Amino acid sequence: MKAKILLVAGIFLLVLFVAVNLSAKSTLFTLVYDMFNQVSIKPQETGSMNAFVVGAVSIDGSEIEDPNDRFSRIIKDVISKTATLNPIKPHAASLAEGKLKFNTYCAVCHGSSREINAEGFAKTKVNELGMIAPAVITLTPFFSDGYIYHKAKYGGAVMPPMGYAVAAEERWNIVNYIRELEKQK
Ligand code: HEC
Repeated sequence: MKAKILLVAGIFLLVLFVAVNLSAKSTLFTLVYDMFNQVSIKPQETGSMNAFVVGAVSIDGSEIEDPNDRFSRIIKDVISKTATLNPIKPHAASLAEGKLKFNTYCAVCHGSSREINAEGFAKTKVNELGMIAPAVITLTPFFSDGYIYHKAKYGGAVMPPMGYAVAAEERWNIVNYIRELEKQK
């Protein structure tokens, strides 16, 4: 009985050994083994966990001070007397940075022109797919700088909060760039 078990175990190990050592990309074992060895950091393995670009990953969530109170922060900027003032002049560097950030984080939904689709939303791919973002520069002339600045941070009923992606100074640069975009026909 014992010998039989040993024989079976021996054959099993032999098959396993052959499977691993054959080049055979098609063997099931190699496949499973391959999938385990993905580019990843395994538990307890030291790796590059702390090598992310600073700010690339939100880890403290503090961009949204109070998720239930996103709108009062935006609304106070509607009245020009209480609106947050833009501390950054629209100099060339600010506009260049604003353009980069706007094109990266805003244009995907809002586009960067006044062009609209049949439903009246910005003519962008995501709107074709069901998003309902307005061609933002048709609206922004009616908003204070502070309003756009806070809107970018806190989002809206539909718009996602973008504060994780664009820091304070970057949002002012975006505002400056939007003011520049408004000048186009
Ligand atoms: C995922 C799509 C999406 C992205 C990305 C996005 N928005 Fe929006 N945005 C919307 C939608 C949808 C609305 C209209 C509904 C709402 O306010 O939630 C909107 C509305 C706005 C408005 C009009 C506010 C109002 O009260 O009418 C402004 C200004 C604005 N977005 C600025 C920005 C800026 C600046 C960025 C980039 C930092 C940005 N958005 C990124 C979807 C988006």
